[in-house]
Amino acid sequence: MADDNRTAKLTIDGQDFDLPIHSPTAGPDVLDIRKLYGQAGVFTYDPGFTSTASCDSTITFIDGQKGELLHRGYPIDQLASQSHYLEVCYLLLYGELPSAAQLADFEDRVTHHTMLHEQMVYFFRGFRRDAHPMAIMVGVVGAMAAFYHDSTDINDPWQREVASIRLIAKMPTIAAWAYKYSVGQPFVYPRNDLTYAENFLHMCFSVPAAEYKVNPILSRAMDRIFMLHADHEQNASTSTVRLASSSGANPFACIAAGIACLWGPAHGGANQACLEMLKEIGTPDQIPEYIERAKDKNDPFRLMGFGHRVYKNFDPRAKVMKESADEVLELLGIENNPLLQTAKELEKQALEDDYFVEKKLFPNVDFYSGIILEAMGFPTAMFTPIFALSRTVGWVSQWKEQLADPQLKIGRPRQLYLGETARDYVSIDNR
Ligand code: SDX
Repeated sequence: MADDNRTAKLTIDGQDFDLPIHSPTAGPDVLDIRKLYGQAGVFTYDPGFTSTASCDSTITFIDGQKGELLHRGYPIDQLASQSHYLEVCYLLLYGELPSAAQLADFEDRVTHHTMLHEQMVYFFRGFRRDAHPMAIMVGVVGAMAAFYHDSTDINDPWQREVASIRLIAKMPTIAAWAYKYSVGQPFVYPRNDLTYAENFLHMCFSVPAAEYKVNPILSRAMDRIFMLHADHEQNASTSTVRLASSSGANPFACIAAGIACLWGPAHGGANQACLEMLKEIGTPDQIPEYIERAKDKNDPFRLMGFGHRVYKNFDPRAKVMKESADEVLELLGIENNPLLQTAKELEKQALEDDYFVEKKLFPNVDFYSGIILEAMGFPTAMFTPIFALSRTVGWVSQWKEQLADPQLKIGRPRQLYLGETARDYVSIDNR
Protein backbone atom coordinates (compact mmCIF):
# COMPACT_ATOMS: atom_id res chain seq x y z
CA MET A 1 0.00 0.00 0.00
CA ALA A 2 1.18 3.56 -0.70
CA ASP A 3 2.70 4.97 2.50
CA ASP A 4 3.32 8.72 2.54
CA ASN A 5 3.73 9.00 6.33
CA ARG A 6 0.37 10.72 6.70
CA THR A 7 -1.31 10.17 10.06
CA ALA A 8 -4.69 10.90 11.65
CA LYS A 9 -4.72 12.19 15.21
CA LEU A 10 -7.11 10.54 17.64
CA THR A 11 -7.58 12.13 21.04
CA ILE A 12 -9.02 10.02 23.88
CA ASP A 13 -9.41 11.59 27.33
CA GLY A 14 -6.83 14.21 26.44
CA GLN A 15 -4.26 11.72 25.13
CA ASP A 16 -3.29 11.87 21.44
CA PHE A 17 -2.73 8.82 19.27
CA ASP A 18 -1.39 8.92 15.70
CA LEU A 19 -3.00 6.48 13.27
CA PRO A 20 -1.12 5.90 9.99
CA ILE A 21 -3.12 6.61 6.84
CA HIS A 22 -2.57 4.32 3.86
CA SER A 23 -3.49 5.44 0.34
CA PRO A 24 -4.85 2.91 -2.19
CA THR A 25 -4.40 2.96 -5.96
CA ALA A 26 -8.18 3.54 -6.11
CA GLY A 27 -10.91 4.14 -3.54
CA PRO A 28 -10.84 5.72 -0.05
CA ASP A 29 -7.79 6.07 2.18
CA VAL A 30 -7.67 3.70 5.16
CA LEU A 31 -6.82 4.36 8.81
CA ASP A 32 -4.41 1.72 10.11
CA ILE A 33 -5.76 0.77 13.55
CA ARG A 34 -3.66 -2.37 14.03
CA LYS A 35 -1.81 -0.83 16.99
CA LEU A 36 -4.76 1.09 18.43
CA TYR A 37 -5.77 -1.45 21.09
CA GLY A 38 -2.17 -1.87 22.23
CA GLN A 39 -1.63 1.89 22.45
CA ALA A 40 -5.03 3.20 23.55
CA GLY A 41 -6.75 0.14 25.01
CA VAL A 42 -9.84 0.64 22.84
CA PHE A 43 -11.45 -1.40 20.02
CA THR A 44 -13.13 0.07 16.96
CA TYR A 45 -16.80 -0.79 16.49
CA ASP A 46 -18.22 -1.57 13.03
CA PRO A 47 -20.97 -4.28 12.96
CA GLY A 48 -21.33 -5.56 9.39
CA PHE A 49 -17.91 -4.10 8.54
CA THR A 50 -19.53 -1.37 6.43
CA SER A 51 -16.55 0.96 7.03
CA THR A 52 -13.77 -1.57 7.55
CA ALA A 53 -11.10 -2.77 5.14
CA SER A 54 -10.41 -6.37 6.21
CA CYS A 55 -7.38 -6.82 3.95
CA ASP A 56 -5.50 -5.35 1.06
CA SER A 57 -6.15 -6.84 -2.37
CA THR A 58 -5.24 -6.33 -6.01
CA ILE A 59 -7.98 -8.46 -7.57
CA THR A 60 -11.26 -6.51 -7.83
CA PHE A 61 -12.25 -2.90 -7.24
CA ILE A 62 -15.76 -1.46 -6.93
CA ASP A 63 -16.68 2.21 -7.00
CA GLY A 64 -20.21 2.22 -5.56
CA GLN A 65 -20.94 5.82 -6.53
CA LYS A 66 -19.73 5.51 -10.13
CA GLY A 67 -21.14 1.99 -10.57
CA GLU A 68 -17.69 0.78 -11.59
CA LEU A 69 -16.42 -2.82 -11.28
CA LEU A 70 -12.83 -3.61 -12.27
CA HIS A 71 -11.19 -7.03 -12.37
CA ARG A 72 -7.41 -6.51 -12.24
CA GLY A 73 -8.19 -3.03 -13.65
CA TYR A 74 -10.38 -4.18 -16.58
CA PRO A 75 -14.00 -2.82 -16.51
CA ILE A 76 -16.68 -5.50 -16.25
CA ASP A 77 -18.61 -4.19 -19.28
CA GLN A 78 -15.51 -4.58 -21.50
CA LEU A 79 -14.83 -8.07 -20.17
CA ALA A 80 -18.50 -9.07 -20.58
CA SER A 81 -18.55 -7.93 -24.22
CA GLN A 82 -15.04 -8.98 -25.33
CA SER A 83 -13.86 -11.80 -23.05
CA HIS A 84 -15.21 -15.12 -21.79
CA TYR A 85 -15.42 -16.81 -18.42
CA LEU A 86 -12.28 -18.94 -18.47
CA GLU A 87 -10.22 -15.98 -19.68
CA VAL A 88 -11.61 -13.93 -16.77
CA CYS A 89 -10.75 -16.85 -14.47
CA TYR A 90 -7.14 -16.68 -15.69
CA LEU A 91 -7.11 -12.90 -15.18
CA LEU A 92 -8.46 -13.17 -11.62
CA LEU A 93 -6.11 -16.03 -10.69
CA TYR A 94 -2.86 -14.77 -12.24
CA GLY A 95 -3.34 -10.99 -12.53
CA GLU A 96 -2.92 -10.48 -16.29
CA LEU A 97 -4.84 -11.34 -19.46
CA PRO A 98 -3.33 -14.55 -20.91
CA SER A 99 -1.53 -14.93 -24.20
CA ALA A 100 -3.17 -17.32 -26.66
CA ALA A 101 -0.79 -20.08 -25.55
CA GLN A 102 -1.39 -19.41 -21.85
CA LEU A 103 -5.15 -19.41 -22.37
CA ALA A 104 -5.05 -22.65 -24.36
CA ASP A 105 -2.98 -24.33 -21.64
CA PHE A 106 -5.30 -23.04 -18.87
CA GLU A 107 -8.44 -24.16 -20.68
CA ASP A 108 -6.85 -27.57 -21.29
CA ARG A 109 -6.04 -27.95 -17.58
CA VAL A 110 -9.57 -27.01 -16.55
CA THR A 111 -11.12 -29.26 -19.21
CA HIS A 112 -9.16 -32.25 -17.93
CA HIS A 113 -10.29 -31.79 -14.33
CA THR A 114 -14.07 -31.61 -14.91
CA MET A 115 -14.80 -35.23 -13.90
CA LEU A 116 -15.57 -36.17 -10.30
CA HIS A 117 -14.14 -39.20 -8.50
CA GLU A 118 -16.74 -41.88 -9.31
CA GLN A 119 -17.20 -42.71 -5.63
CA MET A 120 -18.64 -39.22 -5.11
CA VAL A 121 -21.78 -40.32 -6.93
CA TYR A 122 -22.77 -42.03 -3.67
CA PHE A 123 -22.78 -38.66 -1.89
CA PHE A 124 -25.50 -37.41 -4.23
CA ARG A 125 -27.52 -40.58 -3.74
CA GLY A 126 -27.40 -40.05 0.02
CA PHE A 127 -29.57 -36.94 -0.27
CA ARG A 128 -33.36 -36.86 -0.59
CA ARG A 129 -34.44 -36.11 -4.15
CA ASP A 130 -36.01 -32.85 -2.93
CA ALA A 131 -32.83 -31.67 -1.19
CA HIS A 132 -31.96 -28.07 -2.05
CA PRO A 133 -29.02 -28.20 -4.51
CA MET A 134 -27.12 -25.74 -2.31
CA ALA A 135 -27.23 -28.30 0.52
CA ILE A 136 -25.78 -30.84 -1.91
CA MET A 137 -23.08 -28.41 -3.07
CA VAL A 138 -22.01 -27.56 0.48
CA GLY A 139 -21.79 -31.27 1.28
CA VAL A 140 -20.08 -32.48 -1.88
CA VAL A 141 -17.54 -29.63 -2.06
CA GLY A 142 -16.62 -30.13 1.60
CA ALA A 143 -16.29 -33.85 0.91
CA MET A 144 -13.78 -33.18 -1.88
CA ALA A 145 -11.20 -32.93 0.94
CA ALA A 146 -11.81 -36.64 1.51
CA PHE A 147 -11.05 -37.50 -2.12
CA TYR A 148 -8.37 -35.11 -3.28
CA HIS A 149 -5.84 -35.45 -0.46
CA ASP A 150 -3.02 -34.55 -2.87
CA SER A 151 -4.30 -30.93 -3.08
CA THR A 152 -5.13 -30.06 0.53
CA ASP A 153 -1.74 -28.91 1.81
CA ILE A 154 -2.05 -25.12 1.70
CA ASN A 155 1.69 -24.72 2.29
CA ASP A 156 2.51 -26.40 -1.03
CA PRO A 157 2.16 -23.93 -3.95
CA TRP A 158 1.68 -26.80 -6.40
CA GLN A 159 -1.16 -28.26 -4.31
CA ARG A 160 -2.77 -24.80 -4.04
CA GLU A 161 -2.67 -24.56 -7.84
CA VAL A 162 -4.16 -28.03 -8.35
CA ALA A 163 -6.92 -27.37 -5.79
CA SER A 164 -7.75 -24.10 -7.59
CA ILE A 165 -8.08 -25.81 -10.97
CA ARG A 166 -10.04 -28.73 -9.52
CA LEU A 167 -12.56 -26.43 -7.84
CA ILE A 168 -13.14 -24.26 -10.92
CA ALA A 169 -13.33 -27.33 -13.17
CA LYS A 170 -15.58 -29.50 -11.02
CA MET A 171 -18.18 -27.01 -9.81
CA PRO A 172 -20.23 -27.19 -13.05
CA THR A 173 -20.29 -30.99 -12.77
CA ILE A 174 -21.36 -30.82 -9.11
CA ALA A 175 -24.06 -28.21 -9.83
CA ALA A 176 -25.35 -30.07 -12.90
CA TRP A 177 -25.47 -33.40 -11.04
CA ALA A 178 -27.32 -31.77 -8.13
CA TYR A 179 -29.90 -30.63 -10.69
CA LYS A 180 -30.08 -34.02 -12.45
CA TYR A 181 -30.51 -35.75 -9.08
CA SER A 182 -33.39 -33.42 -8.18
CA VAL A 183 -35.27 -34.23 -11.40
CA GLY A 184 -34.56 -37.96 -11.31
CA GLN A 185 -32.52 -38.02 -14.51
CA PRO A 186 -29.19 -39.83 -14.98
CA PHE A 187 -25.98 -37.91 -14.44
CA VAL A 188 -24.37 -36.66 -17.66
CA TYR A 189 -20.59 -36.70 -17.76
CA PRO A 190 -18.58 -33.67 -18.90
CA ARG A 191 -17.18 -33.69 -22.45
CA ASN A 192 -13.80 -32.36 -23.49
CA ASP A 193 -15.05 -31.12 -26.86
CA LEU A 194 -17.37 -28.51 -25.31
CA THR A 195 -16.60 -25.09 -23.85
CA TYR A 196 -17.09 -24.47 -20.14
CA ALA A 197 -20.59 -22.99 -20.55
CA GLU A 198 -21.61 -25.50 -23.26
CA ASN A 199 -20.49 -28.33 -20.97
CA PHE A 200 -22.61 -27.06 -18.10
CA LEU A 201 -25.74 -26.71 -20.25
CA HIS A 202 -25.09 -30.14 -21.77
CA MET A 203 -24.67 -31.78 -18.34
CA CYS A 204 -27.90 -30.11 -17.17
CA PHE A 205 -30.21 -30.58 -20.12
CA SER A 206 -29.05 -33.50 -22.26
CA VAL A 207 -30.68 -36.91 -21.73
CA PRO A 208 -29.53 -40.32 -23.00
CA ALA A 209 -32.65 -40.63 -25.15
CA ALA A 210 -31.94 -37.69 -27.41
CA GLU A 211 -29.13 -35.67 -28.95
CA TYR A 212 -28.74 -32.28 -27.18
CA LYS A 213 -27.40 -29.43 -29.27
CA VAL A 214 -26.26 -26.40 -27.26
CA ASN A 215 -27.75 -23.19 -28.62
CA PRO A 216 -24.83 -20.70 -29.03
CA ILE A 217 -26.93 -17.77 -27.82
CA LEU A 218 -27.81 -19.65 -24.63
CA SER A 219 -24.22 -20.75 -24.03
CA ARG A 220 -23.06 -17.16 -24.61
CA ALA A 221 -25.64 -15.89 -22.10
CA MET A 222 -24.61 -18.65 -19.66
CA ASP A 223 -20.94 -17.71 -20.02
CA ARG A 224 -21.84 -14.05 -19.44
CA ILE A 225 -23.76 -14.93 -16.26
CA PHE A 226 -20.69 -16.81 -15.06
CA MET A 227 -18.46 -13.79 -15.83
CA LEU A 228 -20.77 -11.26 -14.13
CA HIS A 229 -20.76 -13.21 -10.88
CA ALA A 230 -17.05 -14.13 -10.84
CA ASP A 231 -15.73 -11.88 -8.08
CA HIS A 232 -16.83 -8.88 -6.06
CA GLU A 233 -14.27 -7.62 -3.50
CA GLN A 234 -14.82 -8.67 0.13
CA ASN A 235 -18.54 -9.57 -0.05
CA ALA A 236 -20.01 -11.77 2.68
CA SER A 237 -19.14 -15.14 1.13
CA THR A 238 -15.63 -14.08 0.08
CA SER A 239 -14.99 -12.75 3.59
CA THR A 240 -16.20 -16.11 4.90
CA VAL A 241 -13.71 -17.94 2.69
CA ARG A 242 -10.89 -15.65 3.87
CA LEU A 243 -11.79 -16.08 7.54
CA ALA A 244 -12.02 -19.88 7.18
CA SER A 245 -8.70 -19.96 5.34
CA SER A 246 -6.98 -17.84 8.00
CA SER A 247 -7.21 -20.84 10.37
CA GLY A 248 -5.29 -23.00 7.87
CA ALA A 249 -8.37 -24.98 6.78
CA ASN A 250 -8.03 -26.92 3.52
CA PRO A 251 -9.27 -25.26 0.29
CA PHE A 252 -12.35 -27.47 -0.08
CA ALA A 253 -13.53 -26.68 3.46
CA CYS A 254 -13.02 -22.95 2.82
CA ILE A 255 -15.01 -22.96 -0.43
CA ALA A 256 -17.76 -25.04 1.20
CA ALA A 257 -17.98 -22.29 3.86
CA GLY A 258 -18.31 -19.68 1.11
CA ILE A 259 -21.11 -21.68 -0.54
CA ALA A 260 -22.94 -21.88 2.78
CA CYS A 261 -22.75 -18.10 3.25
CA LEU A 262 -23.76 -17.33 -0.34
CA TRP A 263 -26.97 -19.36 0.18
CA GLY A 264 -28.58 -16.59 2.26
CA PRO A 265 -31.39 -14.58 0.56
CA ALA A 266 -29.66 -11.29 1.40
CA HIS A 267 -26.66 -12.46 -0.64
CA GLY A 268 -26.50 -15.08 -3.36
CA GLY A 269 -29.92 -16.48 -2.55
CA ALA A 270 -31.46 -13.22 -3.78
CA ASN A 271 -31.86 -14.41 -7.38
CA GLN A 272 -34.02 -17.32 -6.25
CA ALA A 273 -35.88 -15.03 -3.81
CA CYS A 274 -36.36 -12.44 -6.57
CA LEU A 275 -38.06 -14.90 -8.94
CA GLU A 276 -40.23 -16.20 -6.12
CA MET A 277 -41.16 -12.59 -5.31
CA LEU A 278 -42.06 -11.88 -8.97
CA LYS A 279 -44.22 -15.01 -9.04
CA GLU A 280 -45.89 -13.91 -5.77
CA ILE A 281 -46.56 -10.43 -7.18
CA GLY A 282 -48.05 -12.14 -10.25
CA THR A 283 -49.33 -9.32 -12.43
CA PRO A 284 -48.14 -5.71 -12.83
CA ASP A 285 -51.29 -4.32 -11.19
CA GLN A 286 -50.16 -5.91 -7.89
CA ILE A 287 -46.82 -4.04 -7.92
CA PRO A 288 -47.87 -0.88 -5.97
CA GLU A 289 -48.96 -3.01 -2.98
CA TYR A 290 -45.55 -4.72 -2.84
CA ILE A 291 -43.66 -1.46 -3.25
CA GLU A 292 -45.59 -0.06 -0.29
CA ARG A 293 -44.76 -3.18 1.75
CA ALA A 294 -41.06 -2.80 0.87
CA LYS A 295 -41.19 0.77 2.24
CA ASP A 296 -43.00 -0.21 5.44
CA LYS A 297 -40.47 -0.48 8.28
CA ASN A 298 -42.88 -2.74 10.16
CA ASP A 299 -42.99 -5.17 7.26
CA PRO A 300 -39.93 -7.43 6.85
CA PHE A 301 -40.64 -7.66 3.10
CA ARG A 302 -37.87 -6.26 0.90
CA LEU A 303 -37.76 -6.05 -2.88
CA MET A 304 -35.44 -8.95 -3.65
CA GLY A 305 -32.98 -8.11 -6.40
CA PHE A 306 -32.92 -4.46 -5.36
CA GLY A 307 -30.35 -2.54 -3.38
CA HIS A 308 -26.72 -3.15 -2.63
CA ARG A 309 -24.35 -2.56 0.25
CA VAL A 310 -21.81 -0.86 -2.03
CA TYR A 311 -23.43 0.23 -5.31
CA LYS A 312 -25.40 3.39 -4.66
CA ASN A 313 -26.41 4.37 -8.18
CA PHE A 314 -26.48 1.26 -10.33
CA ASP A 315 -24.93 -2.21 -10.45
CA PRO A 316 -22.89 -2.34 -13.67
CA ARG A 317 -23.49 -6.07 -13.85
CA ALA A 318 -27.26 -5.57 -13.92
CA LYS A 319 -26.92 -3.35 -17.01
CA VAL A 320 -25.10 -6.09 -18.91
CA MET A 321 -27.39 -8.78 -17.51
CA LYS A 322 -30.43 -6.85 -18.76
CA GLU A 323 -29.04 -6.94 -22.33
CA SER A 324 -28.60 -10.69 -22.06
CA ALA A 325 -32.12 -11.09 -20.70
CA ASP A 326 -33.55 -9.32 -23.75
CA GLU A 327 -31.42 -11.44 -26.14
CA VAL A 328 -32.35 -14.75 -24.52
CA LEU A 329 -36.05 -14.01 -24.26
CA GLU A 330 -36.19 -12.78 -27.86
CA LEU A 331 -34.39 -15.96 -28.99
CA LEU A 332 -36.82 -18.10 -27.05
CA GLY A 333 -39.71 -16.07 -28.41
CA ILE A 334 -40.87 -15.21 -24.92
CA GLU A 335 -40.04 -11.52 -24.85
CA ASN A 336 -43.62 -11.13 -23.68
CA ASN A 337 -42.90 -13.46 -20.76
CA PRO A 338 -45.34 -12.36 -17.99
CA LEU A 339 -42.56 -12.58 -15.39
CA LEU A 340 -40.36 -10.31 -17.47
CA GLN A 341 -43.22 -7.89 -18.01
CA THR A 342 -43.78 -7.79 -14.26
CA ALA A 343 -40.03 -7.41 -13.67
CA LYS A 344 -39.74 -4.52 -16.15
CA GLU A 345 -42.81 -2.78 -14.67
CA LEU A 346 -41.49 -3.31 -11.14
CA GLU A 347 -38.12 -1.85 -12.15
CA LYS A 348 -39.86 1.16 -13.76
CA GLN A 349 -42.11 1.88 -10.77
CA ALA A 350 -39.34 1.33 -8.19
CA LEU A 351 -36.94 3.63 -10.03
CA GLU A 352 -39.62 6.35 -10.11
CA ASP A 353 -40.54 5.95 -6.44
CA ASP A 354 -39.16 8.67 -4.13
CA TYR A 355 -38.33 6.15 -1.38
CA PHE A 356 -36.19 4.01 -3.67
CA VAL A 357 -34.60 7.04 -5.29
CA GLU A 358 -33.77 8.56 -1.91
CA LYS A 359 -32.47 5.23 -0.53
CA LYS A 360 -30.56 4.63 -3.82
CA LEU A 361 -32.21 1.25 -4.37
CA PHE A 362 -32.09 -0.13 -7.94
CA PRO A 363 -31.88 -3.56 -9.58
CA ASN A 364 -28.72 -5.46 -8.67
CA VAL A 365 -27.04 -8.37 -10.45
CA ASP A 366 -29.62 -10.82 -9.13
CA PHE A 367 -32.65 -9.02 -10.56
CA TYR A 368 -32.10 -10.06 -14.18
CA SER A 369 -30.02 -13.21 -13.74
CA GLY A 370 -33.02 -15.01 -12.30
CA ILE A 371 -35.16 -14.08 -15.29
CA ILE A 372 -32.57 -15.41 -17.75
CA LEU A 373 -32.09 -18.64 -15.81
CA GLU A 374 -35.86 -19.15 -15.58
CA ALA A 375 -36.15 -18.61 -19.34
CA MET A 376 -33.39 -21.18 -19.90
CA GLY A 377 -35.43 -23.75 -18.02
CA PHE A 378 -33.60 -23.84 -14.69
CA PRO A 379 -35.74 -24.26 -11.56
CA THR A 380 -35.34 -21.35 -9.09
CA ALA A 381 -33.52 -23.69 -6.67
CA MET A 382 -30.67 -23.87 -9.22
CA PHE A 383 -30.12 -20.11 -9.36
CA THR A 384 -27.86 -19.86 -6.31
CA PRO A 385 -25.83 -22.98 -7.21
CA ILE A 386 -25.10 -21.26 -10.54
CA PHE A 387 -24.04 -18.14 -8.63
CA ALA A 388 -21.78 -20.36 -6.45
CA LEU A 389 -20.33 -22.04 -9.57
CA SER A 390 -19.53 -18.60 -11.01
CA ARG A 391 -18.10 -17.15 -7.78
CA THR A 392 -15.76 -20.11 -7.15
CA VAL A 393 -12.98 -18.42 -9.15
CA GLY A 394 -13.37 -15.27 -7.04
CA TRP A 395 -13.27 -17.22 -3.79
CA VAL A 396 -10.25 -19.22 -4.98
CA SER A 397 -8.38 -16.14 -6.23
CA GLN A 398 -8.93 -14.31 -2.94
CA TRP A 399 -7.99 -17.47 -1.00
CA LYS A 400 -4.71 -17.74 -2.95
CA GLU A 401 -3.99 -14.02 -2.48
CA GLN A 402 -4.50 -14.26 1.28
CA LEU A 403 -2.26 -17.34 1.61
CA ALA A 404 0.50 -15.46 -0.19
CA ASP A 405 0.39 -12.66 2.41
CA PRO A 406 3.43 -12.99 4.69
CA GLN A 407 1.53 -11.06 7.39
CA LEU A 408 -1.37 -13.56 7.37
CA LYS A 409 -2.69 -14.35 10.83
CA ILE A 410 -5.87 -16.01 12.02
CA GLY A 411 -8.87 -13.67 11.87
CA ARG A 412 -10.20 -12.93 15.34
CA PRO A 413 -12.63 -9.97 15.64
CA ARG A 414 -13.33 -8.57 19.13
CA GLN A 415 -16.67 -7.27 20.48
CA LEU A 416 -18.50 -4.60 22.44
CA TYR A 417 -19.54 -6.71 25.47
CA LEU A 418 -22.89 -5.69 27.00
CA GLY A 419 -23.52 -8.78 29.08
CA GLU A 420 -23.30 -9.47 32.83
CA THR A 421 -20.06 -8.75 34.67
CA ALA A 422 -18.60 -11.53 36.89
CA ARG A 423 -21.08 -12.97 39.42
CA ASP A 424 -21.08 -16.06 41.70
CA TYR A 425 -22.87 -19.31 40.86
CA VAL A 426 -26.18 -19.81 42.67
CA SER A 427 -27.16 -23.38 43.58
CA ILE A 428 -30.53 -24.51 42.27
CA ASP A 429 -31.99 -24.60 45.80
CA ASN A 430 -31.40 -20.86 46.11
CA ARG A 431 -32.80 -19.73 42.70
C1 SDX B 1 -25.43 -9.73 -3.68
O1 SDX B 1 -21.72 -7.60 -1.25
C2 SDX B 1 -21.79 -7.94 -2.47
O2 SDX B 1 -20.99 -7.55 -3.30
C3 SDX B 1 -22.91 -8.90 -2.80
C4 SDX B 1 -23.06 -9.28 -4.27
C5 SDX B 1 -21.88 -10.03 -4.77
O3 SDX B 1 -21.67 -10.02 -5.99
O4 SDX B 1 -21.22 -10.72 -3.95
O5 SDX B 1 -23.22 -8.10 -5.06
C6 SDX B 1 -24.27 -10.17 -4.49
O6 SDX B 1 -25.58 -10.17 -2.58
C7 SDX B 1 -26.34 -8.67 -4.27
C8 SDX B 1 -27.45 -8.25 -3.25
C9 SDX B 1 -28.54 -9.33 -3.32
N1 SDX B 1 -29.53 -9.10 -2.22
C10 SDX B 1 -30.76 -8.73 -2.50
O7 SDX B 1 -31.17 -8.39 -3.62
C11 SDX B 1 -31.70 -8.80 -1.29
C12 SDX B 1 -32.48 -7.47 -1.21
N2 SDX B 1 -31.54 -6.40 -0.89
C13 SDX B 1 -31.39 -6.05 0.52
O8 SDX B 1 -31.47 -7.16 1.37
C14 SDX B 1 -30.27 -5.07 0.74
O9 SDX B 1 -30.34 -4.15 -0.26
C15 SDX B 1 -28.85 -5.54 0.86
C16 SDX B 1 -28.71 -6.66 1.84
C17 SDX B 1 -28.35 -5.97 -0.47
C18 SDX B 1 -28.06 -4.36 1.36
O10 SDX B 1 -28.54 -4.10 2.63
P1 SDX B 1 -28.13 -2.80 3.39
O11 SDX B 1 -26.64 -2.63 3.38
O12 SDX B 1 -28.83 -2.73 4.71
O13 SDX B 1 -28.74 -1.72 2.43
P2 SDX B 1 -28.62 -0.21 2.69
O14 SDX B 1 -27.81 0.12 3.92
O15 SDX B 1 -28.17 0.39 1.42
O16 SDX B 1 -30.14 0.16 3.01
C19 SDX B 1 -30.48 1.50 2.99
C20 SDX B 1 -31.95 1.53 3.33
C21 SDX B 1 -32.32 0.78 4.60
O17 SDX B 1 -33.41 1.46 5.14
P3 SDX B 1 -33.13 2.46 6.41
O18 SDX B 1 -32.60 1.56 7.54
O19 SDX B 1 -32.09 3.47 5.95
O20 SDX B 1 -34.48 3.07 6.76
O21 SDX B 1 -32.71 0.90 2.27
C22 SDX B 1 -33.47 -0.17 2.82
C23 SDX B 1 -32.82 -0.56 4.13
O22 SDX B 1 -33.81 -1.09 5.00
N3 SDX B 1 -33.38 -1.26 1.85
C24 SDX B 1 -34.43 -1.79 1.22
C25 SDX B 1 -33.89 -2.77 0.35
N4 SDX B 1 -32.57 -2.77 0.50
C26 SDX B 1 -32.25 -1.85 1.42
N5 SDX B 1 -35.76 -1.54 1.28
C27 SDX B 1 -36.54 -2.31 0.47
N6 SDX B 1 -36.09 -3.24 -0.38
C28 SDX B 1 -34.77 -3.51 -0.47
N7 SDX B 1 -34.33 -4.42 -1.30
